[in-house]
Amino acid sequence: MSKLREVRGDFPILDQEIQGRKLVYLDSAATSQRPLQVQEAVRQYDNRDNGNPHRGSHTLSLRATEAFEGVREKVRRFLHARSVKEIIFTKNATEAINLVAYSYGLSQLKPGDRIVLSIAEHHANLVPWQQVAKKTGAVLTYLYVDEEGRLPEKELDKIDSATKIVAMSHMSNVLGTIFPVKEVIRRAHAVGAVALIDGAQAVPHMKVDVTDLDADFYVFSGHKMLSLMGVGVLYGRESLLETMDPFLYGGDMIEYVHEQETSFNELPFKFEAGTQGIEAVVSLGAAIDYLEELGFDAIHEKEMELLAYALDQLKALPYIRLVGPSDLKDRGAVVSFVVEDVHPHDVSTILDSYGVGVRAGHHCAQPLMRYLKINACTRASFAFYNTKEDIDALVRNLDEVRRWMGYGSR
Ligand SMILES: Cc1ncc(COP(=O)(O)O)c(C=O)c1O
Repeated sequence: MSKLREVRGDFPILDQEIQGRKLVYLDSAATSQRPLQVQEAVRQYDNRDNGNPHRGSHTLSLRATEAFEGVREKVRRFLHARSVKEIIFTKNATEAINLVAYSYGLSQLKPGDRIVLSIAEHHANLVPWQQVAKKTGAVLTYLYVDEEGRLPEKELDKIDSATKIVAMSHMSNVLGTIFPVKEVIRRAHAVGAVALIDGAQAVPHMKVDVTDLDADFYVFSGHKMLSLMGVGVLYGRESLLETMDPFLYGGDMIEYVHEQETSFNELPFKFEAGTQGIEAVVSLGAAIDYLEELGFDAIHEKEMELLAYALDQLKALPYIRLVGPSDLKDRGAVVSFVVEDVHPHDVSTILDSYGVGVRAGHHCAQPLMRYLKINACTRASFAFYNTKEDIDALVRNLDEVRRWMGYGSR
């Protein structure tokens, strides 16, 4: 049994009925739920400290600045970055990737340069690179996964001397595969390329050390790791960020403005234009405290228990085809599958009528769907606050889905 302390009481949202059935929330990869401790941190900030950070010398503005910069230091420590200059707050992971694509990619890439991506990238880590490739004449090259959704080592040989940028997710939001990003980064550096790692699905579930990974850029979103929506993080290697132009202009990112010229603030402020979402930033700090108090070892153990149980149960259903690795190796707690003869939207709508919330569709990964020769699939994603009973409800009601659609169950 997992060593995780009892956490359900921290998540009142989970204690409700949907259509007369107990809610079973299996969509944490889309967005996670927020514990009382995170809500309370925001409430305290709102009731005591709210002001515009970096904009005033009165007490509330100073307190807001202290709260904002305090979270920056917390994120630095959380990611094992060397300096707070390397931690940029953004709206979300998508904005962080766009920042790098535009501020780095656009100025560095030339016709014929290669941008290497995995075929499993979320559109957020694919479309910005496509746009930059169109504008610069660079070409996109994809690394393809095998039948189990893992990346064969020989695919990494595509990272060649023409490669200037490698952009890869740490964990796939569809397959659940954890990609060998340390080796990917090593290969990128060996040919003089930089590597951006999309950690949106990894950071909520595992310890991440950007210094040990030797990542050039690493991004994630707060709302997938217990915080409010509206905050994301870009970690960037200081020496690279220093050379990059700002992404958005105005507000705190300026130093001096003259009628015809402007000089820009130092890192990390150079990349933070306008008033930031400070409540979301405060909530991210509280989310990090909460996750660290639980401990990633205990979180991992619990999620692996759930994942093992879910894979065993789903593999026993004759009408289910798993999308992604069928065992626990290098895999996180996301399970995607196809229900034979039933469209994923029907699967999700019928499951919802039994209180079970899963995600259906292409999961913002259309090139992956096309490569896998499916239109869409259903995804159940777990967090440490899920239980084995949640998985039982999923499996029991998948039988109902088949019955509703007029097929046999098992
Ligand atoms: C792997 C991955 N990258 C990026 C994103 C984009 O996150 P956001 O919408 O918070 O920017 C997601 C969201 O599902 C994701 O799963």
